[in-house]
Amino acid sequence: MKGVILAGGTGSRMQPLTFVTNKHLLPVFNKPVIYYPIERLVEAGVKDILIVTSTEYTHHFHKLLGDGSVLGARISYAVQPAASGIADALRLAEVFADGEKIAVILGDNVFEDSIAKFVKDFDKKRKGAAIFIKEHSDAKFYGVVELDKKGKVIDIIEKPEKPKTNLCATGIYFYDADVFKFIKKLKPSQRNEYEITDVNKAYLKKGMLHSYQLTGEWFDCGNFYWLLRANLFIARKHHGFKD
Ligand code: G1P
Repeated sequence: MKGVILAGGTGSRMQPLTFVTNKHLLPVFNKPVIYYPIERLVEAGVKDILIVTSTEYTHHFHKLLGDGSVLGARISYAVQPAASGIADALRLAEVFADGEKIAVILGDNVFEDSIAKFVKDFDKKRKGAAIFIKEHSDAKFYGVVELDKKGKVIDIIEKPEKPKTNLCATGIYFYDADVFKFIKKLKPSQRNEYEITDVNKAYLKKGMLHSYQLTGEWFDCGNFYWLLRANLFIARKHHGFKD
């Protein structure tokens, strides 16, 4: 599989930290946030990685990561001209994917666990798409997942006011080559973005959406509180930090 890291957007929820940089370059302990999803892909054997960034900070990513060899990856770049959502950013990966399955990670998501076993499973055994589910205390800020009694996904709702469950769709997604056909059919959401949840719902409608449960910690560093939580977690787990 090839890897895609989505690192566009304006980081409006993170101002003033994002007035002069991109949120994916903010620190989680001793590394920029984006290092963490790249490391997850590389350790799972996904080394050909496309990073989709916003126009303003492309050269910062390039300066930080270059051709990716510093992290054991082969990195190329695509630029998303406007902050039109995650699915719009993914659209730019079509030529790079070149018909292969892709593992997509949001550039501001930090995961405790390896995804190697999931990459192997999806690559060898699955068609369609897969989402990664994890319980979260603040579910209403994410894509909220409803499962049937057998554990199959029956619905995903983007940022519902009253979440029916505390299960969230985290920022890892696996797709087959059909993803680009689904993206082309999307319409913008109420927040005027092309939503990744709508892509996943298109697969769900066709009965082609698989799900994996994550057991380790997950942090979406897209707001101050969870960025801090990610920092503390990494500091404690990997750097011996004690309060
Ligand atoms: C995005 C997705 C949401 C998902 C989240 C994971 O939200 O739209 O479904 O749960 O990433 O990090 P956003 O960060 O764009 O608000």
